[in-house]
Amino acid sequence: MPAIPVAPGVYSVGVLNPNLRIFDVVMCTEYGTSYNAYLLQGSEKTVLIETCHDTFFEQYLDNIRSVCPLERIDAIILNHCEPDHSGVLHRLLALCPNAEVIGTAAAGIYLKKITNNDALPFRAVKQGDTYDLGGGQLLHFYPSPFLHWPDTMFTYAPHLRTVFTCDFLGSHFCEPQVFDHLVHYQREYFDALHYYFCAIFGPFMPYVRKGLDILDTLAFDTACTSHGPVLTRGGLLPQVLTRYRGWSAEAPPRAHVRIPVFYATAYGNTERIAEGIRQGVLQALPDAECTLYNVNEHDMATLQELLCQSDAFALGSPTINADAVPPMWELLSHIDAINCKKKPALLFGSFGWSGEALGQLQARLEGLKMKVYAEQLRVPFVPSDADIQTAASLGQAFALSIQQQ
Ligand code: FEO
Repeated sequence: MPAIPVAPGVYSVGVLNPNLRIFDVVMCTEYGTSYNAYLLQGSEKTVLIETCHDTFFEQYLDNIRSVCPLERIDAIILNHCEPDHSGVLHRLLALCPNAEVIGTAAAGIYLKKITNNDALPFRAVKQGDTYDLGGGQLLHFYPSPFLHWPDTMFTYAPHLRTVFTCDFLGSHFCEPQVFDHLVHYQREYFDALHYYFCAIFGPFMPYVRKGLDILDTLAFDTACTSHGPVLTRGGLLPQVLTRYRGWSAEAPPRAHVRIPVFYATAYGNTERIAEGIRQGVLQALPDAECTLYNVNEHDMATLQELLCQSDAFALGSPTINADAVPPMWELLSHIDAINCKKKPALLFGSFGWSGEALGQLQARLEGLKMKVYAEQLRVPFVPSDADIQTAASLGQAFALSIQQQ
């Protein structure tokens, strides 16, 4: 993608990566992504906002050089330091001898480690600080921590009615045109936007609301994100902002306690225990939302949401070859460690030879700082009627312990 004018004196100089299918090891990128970066030319100063992923350095340089020589760059603003935006900083600085780096104080700490350079020409900015492009054209900085790293900030150019929002409002979505009104596949774009929102900002909802509140105070028509299309008032921006408000809205308090029971089962034995536990929970708390989820029958995004939105949950796994089974590990890898801290969890499962699964799961949950219920139920092979009764008693006790907290 060549450099493309976005606003007077502003060029998109980022790169496209349509073939990416996994981002940062953890995110599926069905629609590829873009690493957006912007070059701003004021009457006195030339500024870059964001660098790019290391893989695309040469292409990124070509884009910048098509607008101006690298030596003319006075500042490199990093709204956030994850390596998809900062990865080439050390190489870029070697080519931009006159550039200082600007970011939040947290960014300064991270960038010195990312570049392994304690002498990095870095200037920390805070709320109220500005950068003068010349002729009174000021850039304003709005630290917006945990959107999604502690170092994140927005950069606002009031003279352009443009805000550079970093990952906020972004998406892993790649069409060759820069602007939102040129997006051909809007349904896919909004799917990508939602997935990105859940994956990146899911643990940080109060900060999302603060970020939206900041944007509400700014007069802007264009939001330059660091991934996906540039958003405009005449394009998709109003819809994106509305959806962010909706997705981040505080849920009203639930009338009933929610205690889902997740399990994997090879021969139906762990499933029978799960049903016993569910019955016990409902005996103790008849109004509770207590549903069984066989983890092999639901997609992980759904289960992840249930994990996050529960008041507590029970997990059941058989033991195979001295370990919990892979679907349970997959489920545990989707626990939001930030929002599930101290959440109560109950463990159970059937086993044949040894029954290590519960200990393995317990170690993982405790590593996530969850509150694992002291009593567990391990049943050799097929649960008897007495075992099911024990499961019900355990479910009952677990439910009551939650209510008492
Ligand atoms: Fe696009 Fe948080 O990096």
